[in-house]
Amino acid sequence: MSIDNASQLIKPLRIAVLVSGSGSNLQVLINAMQAGALPIEIVGVISNREDAYALTRAKDAEIPVVVLSHVASGKRMGIKTFETHASSQLASWQPGLIVLAGFMRVLSADFIDNAAAPMINLHPSLLPVYKGLDTHQRAIQAGERHHGCSIHVVTAELDAGTVLTQALLEINQKDTADSLQERVQKLEHQLLPWTILLLAKGALSLKDNSSSHQKNTFLPALPLKLYLND
Ligand code: GRF
Repeated sequence: MSIDNASQLIKPLRIAVLVSGSGSNLQVLINAMQAGALPIEIVGVISNREDAYALTRAKDAEIPVVVLSHVASGKRMGIKTFETHASSQLASWQPGLIVLAGFMRVLSADFIDNAAAPMINLHPSLLPVYKGLDTHQRAIQAGERHHGCSIHVVTAELDAGTVLTQALLEINQKDTADSLQERVQKLEHQLLPWTILLLAKGALSLKDNSSSHQKNTFLPALPLKLYLND
């Protein structure tokens, strides 16, 4: 059997994606899946906003979507209700991995611990610095030389799980929060598929424990870093 035939026999990693906004990172995954560049199948997308452009991207790719709007008919959907619906939807899709890509609600420990699959999140800073919001502005204000993005295991503590991978750049003197966001987003679009490839191939482990990573792979210590200055 040729190597090509053998690689076609590898079962794709089933991925569910949670979004709130534009979905440019989702689009990168859709493109890679459709091009056969990543061994993945995006089995569904959940959005907490009905106006998220990510939904259009998913529908155009014929991926099932579910909207669990945080404001439906003027009434706010509590996080517990969101989680109850999201849990059963995720369970029905049977994902091997759940990806939070620009998903802007904070999830409970109960939801995370009982989710249908391990969860990773894309965060626009070099964790552990600049958890939370407005990361680009804060990095500039602090006079940082470097900035970037991280992919980490989701745990109950916000932006605090094991950092798997990072991509970094140098902040330019003329960078504004907007220009930096744009530059970092280009990094995200490379970091996310690269990380998912490592997970799909089993080179990275999602056990929230970097010593298990050290034992099971030839890769250097976490986080794996890409330096991608433009
Ligand atoms: C990304 O910049 C990510 O870092 C942040 O939200 C943004 C999502 O962008 N958490 P998109 O919806 O994938 O375009």
